[in-house]
Amino acid sequence: MREIDSDLWVSESPLRFLGLEMGARMTVVRLSDGRLWLHSPVPATPELVKEVQALGEVAYLIAPNCFHHLYVGEWKEACPEAQVYVAPGLDEKRSDLEIAGVLGSESEAGWKDVIDQIDFGGMPMVNEVVFFHRPSSTLIMVDLAFNMGENAAPLTKLFFKINRAYDRVTPTLLERLLTRDRAACRASFERMLEWPFERIIMAHGDVSEQGGRESLVRGYGWLLN
Ligand SMILES: [Fe+2]
Repeated sequence: MREIDSDLWVSESPLRFLGLEMGARMTVVRLSDGRLWLHSPVPATPELVKEVQALGEVAYLIAPNCFHHLYVGEWKEACPEAQVYVAPGLDEKRSDLEIAGVLGSESEAGWKDVIDQIDFGGMPMVNEVVFFHRPSSTLIMVDLAFNMGENAAPLTKLFFKINRAYDRVTPTLLERLLTRDRAACRASFERMLEWPFERIIMAHGDVSEQGGRESLVRGYGWLLN
């Protein structure tokens, strides 16, 4: 666990996708009641569960898009008191999970005093819900952008260089290909830009402390222009 700001931590774990080491990141927010909100959980190893529980009781497990839900069940088993909230579509895909609710653009009562959210439209195969942690001005997302830089594995670096997505906060061609409704996608993006975020936490690549906002806008130029 790495502390990013007050009441904000991340935990990283290896993840291979299409033969490339992409890594995955979980974000942990401590809410005003002292309980924890876990976004995009990584594997629930006994060590990590212990480390997380030392910070507070796990109250919420968030599966923020159709791809980031694999380890929610493990965490639910380790922390049975936690409530599971999932991106739209996962409620059908993961009927094996005990789901407390489906995420929308309205924050749940349990976290709305510190976290805002938008159900990102226009990409029905992804259905990502993005979050804004107000106390730390942090945008929290998983797959809407990557930030592969010098910490990336050699092959991953090469792939992102070829795709002109190296060392910057930017989507890949995949997001572009998965966009079905540009107007809906653009409306969500513009709403997201109303949040005064500076730091960006994403699932793959490095956390962006500065300049990520401008980089993200450039990366989505095809959508916004
Ligand atoms: Fe991902």
